[in-house]
Amino acid sequence: MTTYSLRTGRPAKTRAEAAVVGVLQRPEGPELAAGAEDVGKAYGRKLAPLLATLGVTGKPGETTKLPTNGTVNTPLLVLVGVGKEPTPDAVRRAAGVAARAVPNAASVALALPADSAELVAAVTRGHLLGSYAFTVYKTDKKDKKDKQQTTAEVVVLCANARKKDCTTAFEEAQVVARAVAATRDWVNTPPGDLTPPVFAEAVLAAAKELGKGRGAPRVSVTVLDEAKLADLGCGGILGVGQGSDAPPRLVELTYSPRGAKHHLALVGKGITFDSGGLTIKPAASMNDMKCDMAGAAAVVQATFAIAALGLPIKVSTFAPMAENMVSGSSVRPGDVLTMYGGTTVEVLNTDAEGRLVLADALVRATEKNPDVILDVATLTGHMVVALGDKLAGVMGSQEIVDGVLAASKTAGEEHWPMPIPEGMSERITSSKVADLAQHDWVRWGGGLFAGAFLREFTAGLPWAHLDIAGPGFNSAGPDGHLTAGGTGWGVATLVEYARAMSAG
Ligand code: BES
Ligand code: MN
Ligand code: ZN
Repeated sequence: MTTYSLRTGRPAKTRAEAAVVGVLQRPEGPELAAGAEDVGKAYGRKLAPLLATLGVTGKPGETTKLPTNGTVNTPLLVLVGVGKEPTPDAVRRAAGVAARAVPNAASVALALPADSAELVAAVTRGHLLGSYAFTVYKTDKKDKKDKQQTTAEVVVLCANARKKDCTTAFEEAQVVARAVAATRDWVNTPPGDLTPPVFAEAVLAAAKELGKGRGAPRVSVTVLDEAKLADLGCGGILGVGQGSDAPPRLVELTYSPRGAKHHLALVGKGITFDSGGLTIKPAASMNDMKCDMAGAAAVVQATFAIAALGLPIKVSTFAPMAENMVSGSSVRPGDVLTMYGGTTVEVLNTDAEGRLVLADALVRATEKNPDVILDVATLTGHMVVALGDKLAGVMGSQEIVDGVLAASKTAGEEHWPMPIPEGMSERITSSKVADLAQHDWVRWGGGLFAGAFLREFTAGLPWAHLDIAGPGFNSAGPDGHLTAGGTGWGVATLVEYARAMSAG
């Protein structure tokens, strides 16, 4: 594993095998970003023509490797484009790109703009997550090695490395980034190897690991199996899971530090594979459906991160887990399920399974009487159509939505507010046989109908729903600190939300 350290110092003087400096995009030509002053000095007037010859522009995502041959005291300079402004988002992205540009240097110094706590966090998180690779299933040694980071030491250079806010930001960014990476691992694991019982065991094991050692944070975990779910009457989770050979689970976590004045409940969709059920998905739409537990993974890992950071806030977390499969025992369109708490729901499309497992879990959450409920789910393709794959949609109580938007800005995960239009409630109560209809045959605005459906189970408590169907999984190539596959989306936003809430 790579070790990170925060130091003052200069890129040109570092003994690291490679030093990364930023380049800003300027109308009159590229310009070295803050942190690279001494490199600029060392090259002097030779720098501008050199950058021009190399074709450096400073645009985001651009990398240029420059062997220094003794010009400065590091053998390799990596120039990475930051774009027009060295904002935290731009710097995080540049650090992520840089991580993949020199995966095999034994030691790397990052001399990106990082003189504030915010930027230190961006550089640290960007590098850690940009270098993420999922190689568990690679058996070809060379292929595995090419993908894996072999950098042993990363030094984050910061002019204010001794200031408390910078060291704290540096430590905390690592905690959050490791939680994001752990989320990605779960999402990337093949669905046959992460069935609900295996996923639940993995959560138990991770909580145990977190609690090791004196003074370690304690997160208690309860796993409810199919028998317990039947006792409780969790018809949504059981109904969705009944077509699979692997039984469903509901995992409940509690972090309850002494003296906490606020209480946050987190709920995450944990469909370990979504075939659509009898309302089966077209083949191409099924390929990435191992990602359908990304919400559950995110809320669990966010809970661990909040505990590891020691934030003074109580967190109650609910991760309903089921596999949505096709078999003789699958739930059918037309079946009526009784949710936890007694509400009956007519199933009309078995591919709208997320809301069914979330309904049980939301009602469980309301029983704890939290101040706020946030749910995170890869819930609808409609949200992907509306917002694309780099934004999550957020809907619910206005004040909570505003809080999520603020937190997500700090976290560097863009969310967009979506409405729950008037009239949706009537469509939800339109079932001829049950209390609620699970699906609306009007196709348009399906992501909003889903939000309205979830709201029915929140008992009027302050709540927001984060639909991460787009950004939760990256089907394309790496993009800044977002690598291919699971992105760990939501973890950072939830941590920032908890931080703001515990400070308020
Ligand atoms: N898991 C899917 C949503 C999804 C789509 C996640 C794309 C990630 C990427 C969800 O269970 C689903 O199938 N939703 C349906 C809802 C519809 C039947 C109302 C959809 O989006 O079509
Ligand atoms: Mn589905
Ligand atoms: Zn789904």
